[in-house]
Amino acid sequence: MALIMAFCTLIFNVLCLPLHLIKALGMYEIYKRVFPICLYRCSIIYNNKMHDKKKELFRSLPEFNRHGKQLTILEIGCGTGSNFQFYPPGCKVICTDPNPHFKKYLKSSMEGNDHITFDRFVVASGEDMGAIESESVDVVVCTLVLCSVNNIPKTLQETRRMLRPPSTWTYFFQHVLQPPWYYFGDGCEIVRDTWKPLEAAGFTDLKLKHVEAPLLFLIKPHIIGYAITGLYGMYKRLFPLLAYNITFSYNDKMHNTKRDLFRNVGKFANTDGTLRLLEIGCGSGANFRFYPYGCTVICTDPNPHFEKYLRMSMEANKHLTYETFMVVSGEDMEKVEDGSVDVVVCTLVLCSVRNVQEVLQEVRRILKPGGAFYFLEHVESDPSSWTFFFQHVFEPLWYYLGDGCMITKKTWRDIEAAGFSELHLKHIEAPKVSRMIRPHIMGYSIK
Ligand SMILES: C[S@@+](CC[C@H](N)C(=O)[O-])C[C@H]1O[C@@H](n2cnc3c(N)ncnc32)[C@H](O)[C@@H]1O
Repeated sequence: MALIMAFCTLIFNVLCLPLHLIKALGMYEIYKRVFPICLYRCSIIYNNKMHDKKKELFRSLPEFNRHGKQLTILEIGCGTGSNFQFYPPGCKVICTDPNPHFKKYLKSSMEGNDHITFDRFVVASGEDMGAIESESVDVVVCTLVLCSVNNIPKTLQETRRMLRPPSTWTYFFQHVLQPPWYYFGDGCEIVRDTWKPLEAAGFTDLKLKHVEAPLLFLIKPHIIGYAITGLYGMYKRLFPLLAYNITFSYNDKMHNTKRDLFRNVGKFANTDGTLRLLEIGCGSGANFRFYPYGCTVICTDPNPHFEKYLRMSMEANKHLTYETFMVVSGEDMEKVEDGSVDVVVCTLVLCSVRNVQEVLQEVRRILKPGGAFYFLEHVESDPSSWTFFFQHVFEPLWYYLGDGCMITKKTWRDIEAAGFSELHLKHIEAPKVSRMIRPHIMGYSIK
């Protein structure tokens, strides 16, 4: 294989000899004039395909406006300005690119994005942006650029130089009071960026969140989460493949039940016919085929490794519009606005979540008034049955094989206590599925 590759590379190098020669003679500059027009056209196609991803990527930009003034964004290798549409209203943008011929296209992008303020265009390469003052910007953006720069570490060094350091009073006092704190706290350092070594440690999976703890201001900034490694971490990667395959057989057996469950989802659509549905723990997208034509789906799951299978289900269900895939757990969907969705769906998820009540509170928060929460969950069996006995015996093993799934949950109690205004819940015996998960609850509740 390596030999064939080396041979093919050689052929293409030979074919490119005239281009190498043109570059050596200094005539490649002509292409630099043409490239912006090519990129301008390609960017439109790329942005169409990557629209959701970019929206997701730039969603948190306003959070970096920590000094309360205008948010300043510097874009390295801005090209034709294809990212401008994703920047938050009112921000100031400084553009840099080593190719001066982009200026014309940049201007037209600016005209089409009057929600942002254009500061200036600086002709500079990423490795040397001396014209930009140190510690002067809140955010640096770089998309499809690091593949072209000559020196990535130097570009990143420049990025660090231009970024403003945190400027909160907490940051100030943490640094000032570090020496006494060190001695009183038996060697404790309050100025450590512990998340960086954690991120760099190479865990198979890392869930990390920055939170403000209700403590003394000096130790308010906290990180919480967990990192996994070894065999169980690898199983997290493998689980989506298993779930994807098992889903086919489960969906076959539960086809009529699911059709019955989702029969009246359409009645929660808005007066203009639109319906925004969010699925918690969407997994590989096993429910898509049951959703009504034209509805917009927001997918969420804490396991990012489901995305590949989710995309396959999206391809197979073109009757829906997919807004985004968010890697979040049901207990914490802070990126989803209050009262912003018409329907929330949860199937075979509440058995695996860490805290069912927290998930249900999040469901109520993000639902519009009058919106509905649909559920289909396996639950604990009747205590007088053999199924109950086996559920309790096999629970520990099932927990690990099922990626945290618990088969003895009394989920109906949590749903009943969640404070919905209306609840339609029934207990059923799922047909033909494993005895362990045969007792199910299904239905919907209304906010
Ligand atoms: C058995 S799969 C079900 C997938 C899909 N809902 C279905 O019906 O096919 C369980 C799903 O719950 C997700 N999950 C686990 N913990 C979760 C949590 N705290 N919040 C949201 N989803 C969670 C898993 O990643 C997985 O996708």
